Amino acid sequence: MEKYTKLQIWMHWIVFILVIFQYVFHEPIVQAFDLRVEGMDYSQSTLISLHLAFGGLIFLLVAARIWVRVEQGVPEHPDEHAILINLISKAVHWSFYGVLLLLPITGGFAWFQLSVSAGNVHETLRGILILLVSVHVSALLFHFFISKYNLFKRMWW
Ligand code: HEM
Ligand code: HEM
Repeated sequence: MEKYTKLQIWMHWIVFILVIFQYVFHEPIVQAFDLRVEGMDYSQSTLISLHLAFGGLIFLLVAARIWVRVEQGVPEHPDEHAILINLISKAVHWSFYGVLLLLPITGGFAWFQLSVSAGNVHETLRGILILLVSVHVSALLFHFFISKYNLFKRMWW
């Protein structure tokens, strides 16, 4: 297998766009959540509904991605002998899956159970996700400039 499959590529980039949306438009749900915790009224808005809906969609897409990954496999790292790099890359990829499943679960608990601690975990996970994306993109750049592998082609149509 040289590249990720079309289905895997679609799912990678759809999840990417949904995650960007969650970060850019988080303010209304943060404010509404704070008001609800203080027992005050808040006004429901489209952006709040979309945060909930897209979060749920991310959960379903990531669960499907894991299933497809197990069924179809993924392309081997171009340098099979780079054991440490292979290990780190697997660890980062599986951490992505874990964090992307936990974000909607903790978000759901925070919103529907009005749990402040779940909200705090949700916030921490959002930070961890940014960290993972930075490592992910740095690794791609490292491979491109230092190892001379263009891994991007494997995740593009
Ligand atoms: C992968 C999916 C998700 C991502 C990437 C995401 C991202 C975010 C981000 C960036 C914030 C702002 C955190 C802050 O700075 O305070 C936030 C807040 C929040 N999200 Fe999500 N979210 C996701 C899914 C969900 C879901 C499914 C729900 C509910 C069903 C939800 C409920 C909330 C709530 C209640 C807050 C406010 C928490 C607080 O202020 O402590 N999120 N989310
Ligand atoms: C929310 C942001 C992102 C998430 C959650 C994410 C997640 C992932 C995951 C989990 C994989 C591994 C798939 C697997 O083997 O199971 C992957 C692979 C990949 N991602 Fe991302 N990614 C994100 C952003 C990006 C960005 C911004 C780029 C490019 C600039 C990118 C390019 C790639 C490429 C090229 C691969 C394939 C790597 C290889 O061939 O080994 N990703 N991504």
